[in-house]
Amino acid sequence: MPKPQDGPTNCDRLRDILRKNPDIRVVELQDRFPEYSSPNSLRSVLSRLRQQLGISSVRKPGSDWRSEVKDDNKDTLSSYLGDHGITRSELDAVLKSASQTRRRFLNLDLGSTGKFRFLVVSDTHIGHQMFDESTWDLAMKVLKRDNCEFVLHPGDHLEGMSGRPGHVYELSQIGYKEQSARCIELYLQIPKDIPIYGIDGNHDQWFKSKADIGLIVGEELERRLPNFHHLGEWEGTLPVSGVRIMLFHANDGTAYATSYKGQKLVESLDMMKPALIFEGHYHKSLYQYVRRIHQFESGTICNQTGFMRGKKIPAHVGFWRVEVEHHHGKVIGVESKWYCLPKYV
Ligand SMILES: [Fe+2]
Repeated sequence: MPKPQDGPTNCDRLRDILRKNPDIRVVELQDRFPEYSSPNSLRSVLSRLRQQLGISSVRKPGSDWRSEVKDDNKDTLSSYLGDHGITRSELDAVLKSASQTRRRFLNLDLGSTGKFRFLVVSDTHIGHQMFDESTWDLAMKVLKRDNCEFVLHPGDHLEGMSGRPGHVYELSQIGYKEQSARCIELYLQIPKDIPIYGIDGNHDQWFKSKADIGLIVGEELERRLPNFHHLGEWEGTLPVSGVRIMLFHANDGTAYATSYKGQKLVESLDMMKPALIFEGHYHKSLYQYVRRIHQFESGTICNQTGFMRGKKIPAHVGFWRVEVEHHHGKVIGVESKWYCLPKYV
């Protein structure tokens, strides 16, 4: 899909819409911009509009946006927004919704019957000193040797920053610029004809929420890599030849029993059950068959950190290679192999 063009034209369009439709509702406004597959693009337009209208880019909580308008632009803003029925809460809603990823539903068609093979690398935490280069290299070898058709990543591409006091001293790459550059370097090792499907995990979302930058890592990777597809934040579903594969990144603490969180996840799904689930976040490796779902804990490509050791949490460093046998959208067999390098000497 061609990328939408950002620029004054779109700002003009938005202004015109607001001017001509005094009673427009927020959802209708969003519907006028269907070409924006990426919320970042819509955010960019809104940001330019705000600049043109002289609205401060950072609003203080509880403050009235009208009071933030520069004096010489008051009339302009008023004519564009204030006098045309756009309320503060509606404007806030537009701006807020533009910072959320819309779930995407992509399809991958690899034939109606037969087998498909793929690699699952999760929780790479690129930017942390404990990122395991040798395991990544092994994954690249297996990917090419076994002719895997696609790669899945259930979240935490990047390590992020300042998740805890002293975190910065654990990093090998500091800041988004350095971490994303290293990530691009590594992901480019995946041949362009092999698609990568990923979701953002809690560490990726540091760049959006905790740093208040609003940056969605998966969307940026999609923009900068020819074969990367961002499926969403926290979760995403990819139908492959009709077989629903769910990526999920949890956001809670680990459990002593490795299988517990995966079971709870499967039990919590009350509709639209996928055939396979790959869960990120816990840095554990596990396969189990629960409620007719093939559920995997996806492991990690990052060795145990001091933080994890302090809490006596092990890291299962490695990756999965999975082969699914299917017949018209139904899974009839799953073969999985866990790859890991020996760590004890
Ligand atoms: Fe993680």
